[in-house]
Amino acid sequence: MMEGRIVIKYLRVTYEELSAIEQHLIECARRATDKSYSPYSHFSVGAAVLLANDEIITGSNQENAAYPSGICAERTALFYANSQYPDQPVKMLAIAAKSQEGFTQTPITPCGACRQVIMETEKRFGHPIKILLFGEKETIIIEGVKALLPFSFDNNYL
Ligand code: THU
Repeated sequence: MMEGRIVIKYLRVTYEELSAIEQHLIECARRATDKSYSPYSHFSVGAAVLLANDEIITGSNQENAAYPSGICAERTALFYANSQYPDQPVKMLAIAAKSQEGFTQTPITPCGACRQVIMETEKRFGHPIKILLFGEKETIIIEGVKALLPFSFDNNYL
């Protein structure tokens, strides 16, 4: 028998430690929360995607009375970006969330389905996506979705 271990690396940074473009992308994600349609959870999530051509695409969570028919902010943004700019690699993705009390103090992380879609986008363009998870107290930076999705299923298995 052999035990395996996976170590993941992430950075915890203050807003001031972010670069100008990182701060801007987070600002776009924060603003996108205002466009959320979340009458059921009252939890507004915004995502902003930076493409290789420097275009920024935003998305927000869109809920539905039939709950599973709703979609998260990350997939809204990524699917829109990939359908409008199918040849533009995604460089960065910022995520922010607010409840009725305001923006979360600590960052939220993407759900499993969104992680899988981020993984597909990385594979599609052969390019890791830098993920910025915004929180009022600190932001977490992850250099590629692999850290969030160990033992992932991808096109190598097909
Ligand atoms: N949600 C997102 O949009 N992104 C996440 O990373 C986590 C959860 C949405 C789904 C649902 O509309 C609401 O937040 C509460 O789960």
